Amino acid sequence: MITVRLKHIIVLIHITTIFDRSLENNQISDSKVIMKRQEETLAGWNIVWWLFKLFGLPITIPWLVYHFYDIMQQKRRRSALSKKVVMITGASSGLGEALAHVFYSSGCRIILVSRRKEELERVKNDLMDTHQTVLTYPPIVLPLDLTDINNLKNEVSKAIMIHGRIDILINNAGISYRGEVIDTNVDVDIKVMLSNYFSQVALSKIVLPYMIQQQSGHIIGISSIQGRIAIPFRSAYAASKHALQAWYDTARAELADKNIKFTVVNPGYVKTSLSLNALTGTGQVYGVMDKTTENGYEPKYVAKCILKSVLKQEKEIIIAPFSPKCAIILRTLLPSLFFWIMQKRAKKLAHNK
Ligand SMILES: NC(=O)c1ccc[n+]([C@@H]2O[C@H](COP(=O)([O-])OP(=O)(O)OC[C@H]3O[C@@H](n4cnc5c(N)ncnc54)[C@H](OP(=O)(O)O)[C@@H]3O)[C@@H](O)[C@H]2O)c1
Repeated sequence: MITVRLKHIIVLIHITTIFDRSLENNQISDSKVIMKRQEETLAGWNIVWWLFKLFGLPITIPWLVYHFYDIMQQKRRRSALSKKVVMITGASSGLGEALAHVFYSSGCRIILVSRRKEELERVKNDLMDTHQTVLTYPPIVLPLDLTDINNLKNEVSKAIMIHGRIDILINNAGISYRGEVIDTNVDVDIKVMLSNYFSQVALSKIVLPYMIQQQSGHIIGISSIQGRIAIPFRSAYAASKHALQAWYDTARAELADKNIKFTVVNPGYVKTSLSLNALTGTGQVYGVMDKTTENGYEPKYVAKCILKSVLKQEKEIIIAPFSPKCAIILRTLLPSLFFWIMQKRAKKLAHNK
């Protein structure tokens, strides 16, 4: 019995020894695999690090330095905006209202212009409630119909004299239009031109002598992508915005010596009431929120881009997605193709009506 047990124990010890050895062998081969894998991973990382050193560092470091420099510059310029007198037209809604918030929160002294006094008062109260910590003056409300060109000078001059100067004029007020060339009354063409082009020119001419006397000033014209390319069923609107572009380009060249800056802003669709307030060919209010407008940029985003461009004193900016930007290039480089696409588009839109 004892010998049998002893036999069992010896066999058991033998098995355990074999098992231990195989485990040891397995562990050695496992650790070899792990080491090999680690070496491979290390080699992979070495390649990544080498590529980063070769291409990444020369790009990343200057980019970071430029970005940091840009942020510091913007901070410095932004602080220079404090107490600047800024007149914003079309401030009762949409983009103008967003611009009022952006410039007021930068410490500017704001003059709000549009026709609806009660809406301007709402914007004024909103500005003071929302940005209570901002050190500036209460906004001035200036209710005006900008198409009443002969009566502008008196009212605008009075508003300028409240602070005794005008640093920035943002010509933003405007109306849109929907209609076919053939069915549109000339009165409508004139009205759109008066609202979008002549009123901006007239207001700028009232403000310019003050700026020249101060030896500084900045006029911003809110145009549109349609100031660069014309699309079907927008003839009056696109024409008025194209005219703006030409006027600003000329004024910029002529007044550069007087330290007057001009910026033309060309936004794509912005989510505002523009299409609701648009005129039709018969002069009626269109009253439809277009899908394109509804899905457009947030006015706040566009207003911030405009503030940036003012700080950088850019001459022209385009705030639009890729395809409208391509269309502008196409219109310049391959006009025939652009005209062909517009012809197709006109046919399609007329068919879908
Ligand atoms: N929304 C877009 O998709 C888009 C795209 C590109 C460019 N834009 C341009 O952005 C500018 C602002 O338009 P928005 O999109 O903000 O549209 P909006 O909400 O309809 O604003 C238009 C503003 O212009 C004012 N206005 C119109 N006619 C006026 C007049 N005769 N006198 C004084 N003020 C007048 C309106 O105020 P009252 O009614 O109180 O007068 C309103 O505050 C326009 O120049 C437009 O062409 C818009």
